[in-house]
Amino acid sequence: MLNNQSVIESGKKVLIGNYGRLPVAMVRGSGSRLWDADGRQYIDLFAGFGGAILGHCHPALIQAAAQQAATLWHVGNTFWTLPQIDVADRLGRLAFAGQTFFCQSGGEANEAACKLARLRGQSNGQNRYKIISLQKSFHGRTLAMLAATGNAKYREGFKPDVAGFVQVDGGDFDVLAAAVDADTCGILMEPIQGEGGVNLYPADYPARVRKLCNEKGLTLIFDEVWTGCGRTGKWFGHQHLTDSERKVVLPDIMTLGKAVGGGLPVGIMHARPELAALLTPGKHGSTLGANCICMAVTKAILEVIERDGLLANARLLGEHAVARIRDDAPAMAKISDIRGKGLFIGIEMKEAPKQLVEKGLAQGVVVNVTADKVVRLAPPINITKADLDEGLSRLIGVIRSL
Ligand SMILES: Cc1ncc(COP(=O)(O)O)c(C=O)c1O
Repeated sequence: MLNNQSVIESGKKVLIGNYGRLPVAMVRGSGSRLWDADGRQYIDLFAGFGGAILGHCHPALIQAAAQQAATLWHVGNTFWTLPQIDVADRLGRLAFAGQTFFCQSGGEANEAACKLARLRGQSNGQNRYKIISLQKSFHGRTLAMLAATGNAKYREGFKPDVAGFVQVDGGDFDVLAAAVDADTCGILMEPIQGEGGVNLYPADYPARVRKLCNEKGLTLIFDEVWTGCGRTGKWFGHQHLTDSERKVVLPDIMTLGKAVGGGLPVGIMHARPELAALLTPGKHGSTLGANCICMAVTKAILEVIERDGLLANARLLGEHAVARIRDDAPAMAKISDIRGKGLFIGIEMKEAPKQLVEKGLAQGVVVNVTADKVVRLAPPINITKADLDEGLSRLIGVIRSL
């Protein structure tokens, strides 16, 4: 009989144990609800690490995938195909003027961005290669992105580190500026740090980093794998970052993953045209990047977010969620800080909460804990207020009981 236990037993025999899996096998999803193999229902406040930005089995995404599946799947990138052109065109309008490269994951998008930063650093007779990133950052699991990630734990056992990456404390501009030398070609940072604990920077930091990059000819890469595609209540996380004249701080390259595929494997690098032009034929590629089904779904995600006013939903429901938690005195007695933007929320606990994720599952709510004691919420941005409230009630009950 199919149940959680039977699925787990079969999985343990055949799957590599590289994930800390929970004792639940999910078999079905609809909107912000999930069902496990024992028939138990959950409210999903984490959306599969942010991938399921429009929840589970959204009808518009099913239709887009099915229609494209019956039309054209994959021909390879030596041919022009329409769905990727549509998505790239939208990105240029929603983010900044530029050109786009597609791959399958956030880590690969960051790899492409770092290659492009090096390509610029090694143009016109220069020989610059060093990329500076920030402590507590996360940029992916490839060997180079491990080297870029500001958390040594992920690198343990994989020596030697890929050369040319250094990390400095995030938020301290002087330390960052001091780390730039004649070899530096770029700076890589998340607009809000995700895995590091939903960390925001001092208000003037991003604009100062932008100015530094302009002065030194460095490429500024914003890793928007967590913060892109509406999660924070704006299309992209960097649109919250402004300078003293309230102008948005733009990167030279933006990378996307997770939400842009809605749960399908989509990674994106979007770069200003002058940089993009350096990637001439043969310099980079991806066999399945921009496959037509993924692109049709990405296009539908962007359309639905616009059509249904989901940026406003993320903003309003994010504020509502934070207010609800703050209003609960018994839960707040266990919490030291709540931060984030839109529906990307970190609840920092005074003490590392033991088994909080498992306790949440027992109460029918899916959440995540990162950086030891930060409970992370990232529900689908089309979650209803009723579902969010129900999920929050369950979570608050768990926090109270810690
Ligand atoms: C900010 C950030 N960048 C990159 C990645 C890597 O993305 P992927 O797992 O799709 O390679 C992640 C994954 O969590 C991330 O949070």
